Amino acid sequence: MSSPNSYDLAAVRRALPVLEEVTYLNTGTVGIMAESVLAAHLAAVTQYERGGHVAERAAREGYERARATVARLIGAEPDEIALTRNATDGVALVAASLPLGPDDLVLTTDQEHPAVLLPWALAQRRGRGRLSFFAVSSDPEATFNRFVQAVRPATRLVVVSHVSCETGARLPIEAICAYCRERDILTLIDCAQSVGQFPVDVRRIGCDFATGNGHKWLCGPKGTGFLYVRADRLQLLEPPLIGEGAAAPPFDRRLLGEDPAWAPWAFVASARRFEYGTRNLHDYAALTAAIEYLGGLGWEAIERHLATTSAAFKEALAAERGVMLHSPWRWEDSSGLITFGVEGWSGLELSRRLWDDYAIIQRRVQVPDAVRVSCAYFTGPEDLERLLVALHALRRR
Ligand SMILES: Cc1ncc(COP(=O)(O)O)c(C=O)c1O
Repeated sequence: MSSPNSYDLAAVRRALPVLEEVTYLNTGTVGIMAESVLAAHLAAVTQYERGGHVAERAAREGYERARATVARLIGAEPDEIALTRNATDGVALVAASLPLGPDDLVLTTDQEHPAVLLPWALAQRRGRGRLSFFAVSSDPEATFNRFVQAVRPATRLVVVSHVSCETGARLPIEAICAYCRERDILTLIDCAQSVGQFPVDVRRIGCDFATGNGHKWLCGPKGTGFLYVRADRLQLLEPPLIGEGAAAPPFDRRLLGEDPAWAPWAFVASARRFEYGTRNLHDYAALTAAIEYLGGLGWEAIERHLATTSAAFKEALAAERGVMLHSPWRWEDSSGLITFGVEGWSGLELSRRLWDDYAIIQRRVQVPDAVRVSCAYFTGPEDLERLLVALHALRRR
């Protein structure tokens, strides 16, 4: 497997000590943090926890730097970014904030993560919207056609993944969003599996809302994520919860007076309206560090590496007897996620054996019954070789 990187893969791998113990092919679930990012993370935790209120200002500056860094990364303005705990938060906030009636349709796909399904299932139970579905194909044109056929006059919102967590297929989201814009249908894109793999630009995508997290392909800290709300869509979202930080003007006991409900306060006029109370400001310092670390390697180089590495994985896997590949071939239609099944093996058992007997960290997929491996910026030919050796040995059992 040739590696046309502009970064030093061996040095990158040395910064990830767990690679000495395991074959890590599970960035699609949780990324691993480079040592320099971890050092920044620990320093931020130490400073804030030791300093308490003394360190508050520095922690808050770090928090706002993270907001600006995320905004730059996805082509948004800082005021359009709410910092959240994870990608699910973003979906749940939209689901709980958007005023939908029981007959308004929320169109999504058959490959969504529970992060999408559960918040909208709950919204439906509470009389806010009703889920409807279309099937994702490995051919984006077929996916788009199925999407168009599934749109109804009552469709108010389309919620789709940028990259399917099941097959790694890239959805034709720009075409989907353009179609929706022409019909006044709102769009929410789940970018949990795309941000960090290849450029994600919310303006080019043309969506109204987007959600993502820091702990997968950005290899940042757990408990960090973002919700993008296009500036002119902000007034559509009335948060279900509020606290200090989310209301304007800032808290003033005299202003709230004896009748706080009717005092002249409002939600702040930015996506910060979803953020209130004391927060884990220090974690977001490491989100900035993680994004800057990967940016330093070069986003184009990372994408090139993922494209060539995942192509090598797919070619090698497809050449194996009894292996069924479920991910699209072309890089433009796919991602670093590769899903495959092996004849005679359930995904669950194959995943267990790879993990327990060969220290190959991946995840099982339920539908299709298969295993999913992630090719990340640090994945090398040795990882593929170990996977193939394990598959050969398992087939002989
Ligand atoms: C497509 C997709 N969306 C959302 C999530 C959930 O992300 P989080 O744990 O940050 O809420 C995942 C996690 O695997 C995912 O694959």
